[in-house]
Amino acid sequence: MAPLISTMIPLLQLLLLFTIQPKPSLALQLLSTFTSTKSPWNFSDDLLLVSSDQVFAAGFRTSPPSFAVFVYNSTNQTTVWSVKTSPLSSIVISSSGEASLNDSSGRNIFSNAAISNDTKLVLNNDGSLVLNNWTSFDSPTDTILANQAIHSNGTSLTSSNGKYQFINATNLVFNNNSTYWGPSNVGAIRNLSSDGKLIGDGGSLIASNFGSTRALRRLTLDSDGNLRVYSLRRSGGWRMVWEAVQERCTVKGTCGPNAICVPENYNEPSCVCPPGYRWTNVEQVACVLKTNFSGADSKFLRLDFVAFDNGPGTVDSTPQSFDDCRTKCLVNSSCAGFSYRYNGDRYCLQYSEQLAYGYWSPATKTVTYIRVARSERDVSNFTGMTSLVDTVCPVNISLPEPAKESKTTARNLAIIITLFAAELLVAVMSFWAFLSKYSKYQDMARAFGLEFLPAGGPKRFSYAELKAATNDFSNLLGRGAFGQVFKGELPDHRVVAVKRLKNVDTGEAEFWAEVTIIARMHHLNLVRMWGFCAEREQRMLVYEYIPNGSLDKYLFQPRGMKMNNAIDTPERPLLDWNIRYRIAVGVARAIAYLHEECLEWVLHCDIKPENILLEDDFCPKVSDFGLSKLANKEDMVSMSNVRGTPGYMAPEWVMPGQHVTAKADVFSFGMVLLEIVSGERNNEFRQSTMVSEEWYYPKWAFEKVYLEKKVEDILDRRILDKFDDREHFALVDRMVKTAMWCLQGRPEMRPSMGKVAKMLEGSVEIMEPEKPTIFYLGDAH
Ligand SMILES: *[C@@H]1O[C@H](CO)[C@@H](O)[C@H](O)[C@H]1NC(C)=O
Ligand SMILES: *[C@@H]1O[C@H](CO)[C@@H](O)[C@H](O)[C@H]1NC(C)=O
Ligand SMILES: *[C@@H]1O[C@H](CO)[C@@H](O)[C@H](O)[C@H]1NC(C)=O
Ligand SMILES: *[C@@H]1O[C@H](CO)[C@@H](O)[C@H](O)[C@H]1NC(C)=O
Ligand SMILES: *[C@@H]1O[C@H](CO)[C@@H](O)[C@H](O)[C@H]1NC(C)=O
Ligand SMILES: *[C@@H]1O[C@H](CO)[C@@H](O)[C@H](O)[C@H]1NC(C)=O
Ligand SMILES: *[C@@H]1O[C@H](CO)[C@@H](O)[C@H](O)[C@H]1NC(C)=O
Ligand SMILES: *[C@@H]1O[C@H](CO)[C@@H](O)[C@H](O)[C@H]1NC(C)=O
Ligand SMILES: *[C@@H]1O[C@H](CO)[C@@H](O)[C@H](O)[C@H]1NC(C)=O
Ligand SMILES: *[C@@H]1O[C@H](CO)[C@@H](O)[C@H](O)[C@H]1NC(C)=O
Ligand SMILES: *[C@@H]1O[C@H](CO)[C@@H](O)[C@H](O)[C@H]1NC(C)=O
Ligand SMILES: *[C@@H]1O[C@H](CO)[C@@H](O)[C@H](O)[C@H]1NC(C)=O
Repeated sequence: MAPLISTMIPLLQLLLLFTIQPKPSLALQLLSTFTSTKSPWNFSDDLLLVSSDQVFAAGFRTSPPSFAVFVYNSTNQTTVWSVKTSPLSSIVISSSGEASLNDSSGRNIFSNAAISNDTKLVLNNDGSLVLNNWTSFDSPTDTILANQAIHSNGTSLTSSNGKYQFINATNLVFNNNSTYWGPSNVGAIRNLSSDGKLIGDGGSLIASNFGSTRALRRLTLDSDGNLRVYSLRRSGGWRMVWEAVQERCTVKGTCGPNAICVPENYNEPSCVCPPGYRWTNVEQVACVLKTNFSGADSKFLRLDFVAFDNGPGTVDSTPQSFDDCRTKCLVNSSCAGFSYRYNGDRYCLQYSEQLAYGYWSPATKTVTYIRVARSERDVSNFTGMTSLVDTVCPVNISLPEPAKESKTTARNLAIIITLFAAELLVAVMSFWAFLSKYSKYQDMARAFGLEFLPAGGPKRFSYAELKAATNDFSNLLGRGAFGQVFKGELPDHRVVAVKRLKNVDTGEAEFWAEVTIIARMHHLNLVRMWGFCAEREQRMLVYEYIPNGSLDKYLFQPRGMKMNNAIDTPERPLLDWNIRYRIAVGVARAIAYLHEECLEWVLHCDIKPENILLEDDFCPKVSDFGLSKLANKEDMVSMSNVRGTPGYMAPEWVMPGQHVTAKADVFSFGMVLLEIVSGERNNEFRQSTMVSEEWYYPKWAFEKVYLEKKVEDILDRRILDKFDDREHFALVDRMVKTAMWCLQGRPEMRPSMGKVAKMLEGSVEIMEPEKPTIFYLGDAH
C-alpha cells in the first residue's frame, strides 16, 4: 500500500499543478455541441462549449472546481451559472443518450433530463445551457439573464458566497431568515427583458435602461447582498444600471454582531463598534463589550439614528414613556440596550445579550441606548453624526445684506462670514431636550434626502393638482434646456418648483420608471424630486424649491455700479472663499454620487453655474440631473451637438468618433471650478486681456498658476483683499489644481469625479497636472 501512496503523491501534485496553471490556449478546443461521440469531457480537458454567437461559453473551472457558464467576451469572463463539482468530475453522454455530470455532493445534475438517442449539450445565444428538456435557466445560481423565465413561486438566487438569497424573486434574505428587502419595496421581479426593462408584478416597470437597447444584461445577487442589473459595455466591463437596496447599510449581515454599519464617502458601508465596545477580530467585523457590567453597575450611552434588528429582542409597541422603556431594560440583567422610536407611534425595543444588524440612518428616526459598565469612559460619537454633514453644508448662516453705503464700489460689498455647523453639534443632554430638538434632526434627515424613504417612489400628481399648486402656471421661475419652471405650493404647504418638460414623448409607464429612478437619487447636494405628472401629453416634474436661486447670480454679478436699472435684480452678497470651497466640494460629491454611486448612465451633461442652486445656507444643490434620459431620441441626437452650453462642453462633444463619458462632466465641472475661483464666466474672462483666437482659458490659467506662479491673477478680484494666506491658501490651491486636472483635453487624463471630490477635500495628494490643451487642435501630442 505504502509504495502505491508514495507514487500517487507526485501524481496528485502534478494533477494539482495542472489544474492551477492557466490552460494553454493553443490547445483550447471550442465546441458548438457536446454529444456522445465526444464523451467523456474530463475536468482537465481544454474544451469549451460556446454559443453560436460566441458571447457565452461553458466549461470546467478550477477555483473552486465547478462547471460554469460565463460571458466569454467580458473582461473577467463573468460567471452567470455554475454547479460545484469535484476536480475528478466529467460529463458523460452514453451512446444510449443518458447524460451525467456529478456535482460536488455526487448528485447527477442531469438525472431529471429526458433520454433520447439524440442527446446533446448545447449553449444557446441567450446563455442557457440545454440538454434535452433540462435547462440551466430552471436552476439559476446568482444570476438571471435577459428573458430568463422567473417564477415568483420558485425562482431563487443565492449569492456566490452563500450568505444572501433572493427568494421567489421577491425577498432579499440574509442567513435564510433575515429579510431586508421585500414586496413592500418593489414587489416580485418577473422579467428582465432583452431591451433592458426590469418588469415587476402585474407588468409594472421597475427600471429601464434606455440608451443602447442591444447590450447584454444580467440581474445578479452580489456577494454584498445587493441585487443589481448590469449591462455589458463594448470594452468588456460591466456597467451597473440598477440596484435594489439604496441604503447599503440596511443590507443585513454587512457588519457582524454588535457592530454598526455607517455609510462612508459615497454610501460605501463601513463597520464601526459602538462606544464601550471593541473589535473581536477584524475579519469578522464583530464587536464585544470592553468591560462587562453587572446589573445596577451599568449606564446607557445614546446613539442617535442607530437601529438594530429586533431579531430575538422584544418589542413593546404600546405607547408609553421613555422612562418605562429604560426601566424595563435596567431591571433585566441580560438587556444589552434598548431603542426608542419617536415618530408618532412610539415604540420601545429591548435587546438581549447581542445587538444584531446595526446601522445608522436618519430615516430610522430611532435612538438607541446601549448599556455599558458604569466605569466606561467612552463617549458616544453618534450624536446626530453631524460630521457627515458639516463638511459640505453650513447650517444656519445668515447673510448680511450688502452694506448700503458701499453700493457703488464692488470691492466693499459685504463679505459673508460663515458660522459653520457648530450649532448643530451641540450635544443634547436629556432625552426630552432631544425630543424638543427633534425638528432639527428631521431637518438633517431631509438634508440626507432620506426623509421620504423608502416609501413607494415619487408621488404622482394630476395635471389639475399641479395647475392649482402653481396658480395656473403663473409664477415663472426660469427656463431651462428641458422646459419652463414654475413656483408652486402644495396643499401641505410645501413650496415646490414644477418643471414642465418639453419634447418628452416617452410613454407614461416608461416615464414613470425613469422618474422613479431620478427620485431614488438622494444626496444632500442634489435637488430632491418629490413627484411627477404624466397625463396625456403633459410631462412634469415636481422638485423641492430652492430659495436662493442659482450660483451664476452670485458669481457673475455685474461688477461695480449699475447706473440705471438698479431695481431689476436684487444685489446679492459676494460669496467668500470658505463658501465657495464648500460649494465646490458639495457639487463634486453630488456628481460623484451620480456617476459612481447611483447608476453610471446618469451623466449630467450640463454642469454649469445655472444648474447649481443654493439653499438658504448656501448649501449647493445640483439640478437637472437624469433628465437627458427623458428627452426623446431624435432630440438626443441633435442635442449632442448643441448639448450643454458652449464654454462648459468637453472637447470630445465636438470630436467625431469620440464617446462622451462621465469624463465630459468632469471637464464641465473643472470650468465651473475655475469660475468659482475667478468669479467670471470662462468665455468672458477679463475680456481686455484676451488677445487672440488661440486664447484658451484653461491653458492661460495653467500658465498663470504653474509657470508664472501668479495664482492671484486668476482669483476673484472683488474678494481678493479677503484672501488670507493661512486660512484660504490650501482651499484655493486645491480648487485651482483640481480644476487643472479636470480640464485636461484628453478624457482619460481627467480624474474620475470621486477622485475629484477627494482632491478637493484634501484627502489625496494632487500631482502637478499637464498643461490643458485642446488636443485635437494639435497643440499637444
Ligand atoms: C478521461 O478520464 C477517463 C478516466 O477517468 C480516461 O479513461 C479518459 O482517457 C480521459 N479522457 C481524456 C480525453 O483524457
Ligand atoms: C456519478 O456518480 C455515480 C455514483 O454516485 C457514478 O456511478 C457515476 O459514474 C458518476 N458519473 C460521473 C460522470 O462521474
Ligand atoms: C424531462 O422529461 C422527463 C420525461 O421524459 C421527465 O420525467 C422530466 O421530469 C423532465 N424534466 C424536466 C426538467 O422537465
Ligand atoms: C432515434 O430513434 C428514433 C426511433 O425511436 C429513430 O426514428 C431515429 O432515427 C433515431 N435517430 C437517430 C439519430 O438515431
Ligand atoms: C420578458 O419581456 C419581454 C418584453 O416585454 C418579452 O418579450 C419576453 O417574452 C418576456 N420573457 C419572459 C420570460 O417572460
Ligand atoms: C409556479 O408558477 C408557474 C407560472 O408562473 C407555474 O407554471 C408553476 O406550475 C408554478 N409552480 C408551483 C409549484 O406552484
Ligand atoms: C416561495 O414560493 C413557494 C411556492 O409557492 C412557497 O412555498 C414559499 O413559501 C415561498 N417562499 C416565500 C419566502 O415566500
Ligand atoms: C439555509 O438553508 C439551507 C437549506 O434550506 C441550508 O442548506 C443552508 O445551510 C442554510 N444557510 C444558512 C446560512 O443557515
Ligand atoms: C436564523 O438562522 C440562524 C442560523 O441559520 C439562527 O442562528 C438564527 O437563530 C435564526 N434566526 C431566527 C430569527 O430564526
Ligand atoms: C462579444 O462578441 C460579440 C459577437 O461576436 C461581438 O459583437 C462583441 O463586440 C463582443 N464583445 C466584446 C467585448 O468582445
Ligand atoms: C475584473 O476582476 C478584478 C478582480 O476581481 C477587478 O479588480 C476588475 O475591476 C474586474 N474588471 C472588470 C472589467 O470587471
Ligand atoms: C468614535 O470615535 C472613536 C475614537 O475617536 C473612533 O475610533 C470611532 O471610529 C468613532 N466612531 C464613529 C462612528 O465615528
